Amino acid sequence: MNPLVLPLVLPGVYAPQEDTALLAGALSEEPLPPGAEVLDVGTGSGALALEAARRGTRVTAVDVSWRAVATARLNAWRAGVPVRIRRGNLFGPVRGQSFDLILTNPPYVPAPMVRLPRGPARAWDAGRDGRLVLDRICREAPDLLRPGGVVLIVHSALSDPGRTLEHLRTAGLKASVTRRSRIAFGPVLRGREGWLRERGLLPPAEKQEELVVVRAELPV
Ligand SMILES: C[S@@+](CC[C@H](N)C(=O)[O-])C[C@H]1O[C@@H](n2cnc3c(N)ncnc32)[C@H](O)[C@@H]1O
Repeated sequence: MNPLVLPLVLPGVYAPQEDTALLAGALSEEPLPPGAEVLDVGTGSGALALEAARRGTRVTAVDVSWRAVATARLNAWRAGVPVRIRRGNLFGPVRGQSFDLILTNPPYVPAPMVRLPRGPARAWDAGRDGRLVLDRICREAPDLLRPGGVVLIVHSALSDPGRTLEHLRTAGLKASVTRRSRIAFGPVLRGREGWLRERGLLPPAEKQEELVVVRAELPV
């Protein structure tokens, strides 16, 4: 498994799952010098932000949900590690800053609703192709990286990793898929299996979802 330490999770906040664990594994392989500036976008419980902060990095974490912000602050306090935790929309709270590492486990599940939902589903639903948030991250993250900086993004193979790679390469980054994991469908995918198959996003016999980590580096 991975070194993820399970945090407390307030109701309505995304509890760390396989995607969190896969990204934590990728984070553990990044050679981060003490004092490196790290950004965790969509921090949820703060699990990934805390993993980075335990390594002596300077971490900023952002989430659009006040409940998530409260949960992440509580977990940082319990762990006794300093993390700046801001409420806001993606990179809004960190405009003008730059980072050595950007981590994100954003909403990425294709959903029948065209728009982003309100409430807890905002942690996973991301429009009909699952890319409403991912495309913004691919567009905006490269401008916040320092030379040599890295962005790590975890998402489902259902939400087109090829497009993530293409966006990031177009922005001048060296991008590849560095981790994959196949997992059983969780409750969200089970609930919309029929819709996903009708749209051709899931082959008829497929009973598992593949998660990927995309790693992209800005050349020095
Ligand atoms: C899949 S959860 C990941 C939580 C945590 N990072 C983890 O890996 O366990 C996605 C998180 O992104 C947050 N989120 C969704 N849209 C956002 C946005 N536009 N800006 C900031 N955070 C957002 C959600 O509130 C949720 O906490």
